[in-house]
Amino acid sequence: MAAAVGVAAALAGSPPARTSLSLFSLADRVALVTGGHRGIGLEMALALAEAGAVVYCLDLPTQPDSDWLKVQDYVAKLPVSEQNLKGRLEYIAGDVTDQKAMWAAAESIAAREGKINICMANAGILHGCDCLEYSAEDFRKVLDVNASGVLFTAQAAGRQMERLGIPGSIILTASISGSITNPTQHLLAYNASKSAVLQMARSMACELAPKGIRVNSISPGYIVSEMTRGAFLQTGLEARLSAQNPMGRFGRTDELRGIALWLASDASTFCTGTDIKVDGGQCAW
Ligand SMILES: NC(=O)c1ccc[n+]([C@@H]2O[C@H](COP(=O)([O-])OP(=O)(O)OC[C@H]3O[C@@H](n4cnc5c(N)ncnc54)[C@H](O)[C@@H]3O)[C@@H](O)[C@H]2O)c1
Repeated sequence: MAAAVGVAAALAGSPPARTSLSLFSLADRVALVTGGHRGIGLEMALALAEAGAVVYCLDLPTQPDSDWLKVQDYVAKLPVSEQNLKGRLEYIAGDVTDQKAMWAAAESIAAREGKINICMANAGILHGCDCLEYSAEDFRKVLDVNASGVLFTAQAAGRQMERLGIPGSIILTASISGSITNPTQHLLAYNASKSAVLQMARSMACELAPKGIRVNSISPGYIVSEMTRGAFLQTGLEARLSAQNPMGRFGRTDELRGIALWLASDASTFCTGTDIKVDGGQCAW
């Protein structure tokens, strides 16, 4: 039986087994983060590593660039805390659209580390086009990465969690674009792919709950990254898009650290099948 925590521990008169902050510890946990070479993926990977996890960042480049290596070095130099929070960042090249390769990548992480506890299926691409003009090729490409790639990633980690009997946490990066249509933007394929991610999280959560595996999604609003730099910021749309949320600005990638850590950790053990929006209030309007 799990040791009592919270009020139950206080009433039992026992010393607290786990205080509230220690619930966020990821000591001895192993994570896979796709799209972990930059942007939101790298930021969430760093957050997990700071909490003690060994994090495998999977992305397209065959070798990580100097920025990624700097972040890896930063993690290596973090002091080891009393809770033994000694995280590590590793890099593996991979393409989320290759199902067999994704399953094999997760197998090899589990073989090396003995487990996978956390999966962040985060890799994604953005492509805009008028809905009546969308070519089959472009539409399929977006769905291939953003929907199929998310499924293959979640499957890859989930299969190892099931095989090893690990009560893991799978987190899918969706977007508010899966719940709303971004005003003035023609993002049909992206929006459809993110709606698919939202439903995938719900379906997987219900199937995998009996195995102790949780599945949730995160829906960011506009966040400054290479993706939005190319699509929106360099095209002078920042002011117009910022005005679409009550906070009047784009979010920063580091503003997703808290939700990533909460969903990945034992601080959220009763949360599954849920989408959490981090959007400066955009969907409240
Ligand atoms: N930035 C935003 O405003 C925003 C908002 C909502 C949701 N999102 C989602 O967050 C996720 C991360 O976006 P970001 O803003 O960091 O973008 P980004 O373009 O900076 O990062 C995306 C990463 O995914 C990788 N990637 C793309 N295709 C891949 C593939 N086939 N296999 C493996 N890796 C692949 C890229 O190489 C890149 O490193 C995406 O799913 C995106 O749709 C972003």
